[in-house]
Amino acid sequence: MKEYNLTTKMRAYKWDELTEDQRALVSVAKEQTKHSYCPYSHFHVGAAAKLANGEVIRGCNQENAAYPSGLCAERSALFAAGAQYPDQPVERLAIACFTDGHFTKEPGSPCGACRQVMIETEHRYGGKMEVLLYGDEATYVFDSAADLLPLIFVSENLKG
Ligand code: THU
Repeated sequence: MKEYNLTTKMRAYKWDELTEDQRALVSVAKEQTKHSYCPYSHFHVGAAAKLANGEVIRGCNQENAAYPSGLCAERSALFAAGAQYPDQPVERLAIACFTDGHFTKEPGSPCGACRQVMIETEHRYGGKMEVLLYGDEATYVFDSAADLLPLIFVSENLKG
């Protein structure tokens, strides 16, 4: 038996420590929480994806009375980006969560399915996608989606 410690890297920034570009994208994600359709959870999630050509694609969670038919904010943004600009790498993804009348102090943590889609996005374009998780007290910055998901499953794994 061999035991492994899988480590990951993230940095926590105060708002004024972020770059202007990072703040701009996080601001779009925050703005997007206003468009969230979340009559069941009342948990508003906004996402913004910055593409290599400079376009910003917006997303937010879309809930459904048949609960599993809904979609998270991150995937709504990444799928919209893939549909509208299939040839444009996603360079950065920002996420913000708003509930009970305020943005969460701690950054929201993307669900497993969204992490897997982030990995596919990164892998598809062959570069890193920076991920910014906004919280009122700190914004977590991951240089790569892979830092959010150890032991990734990508197309090569299908080849055995
Ligand atoms: N949600 C997201 O949009 N992104 C996440 O990363 C976590 C959860 C949404 C799904 C659902 O509409 C609500 O938040 C509560 O789970």
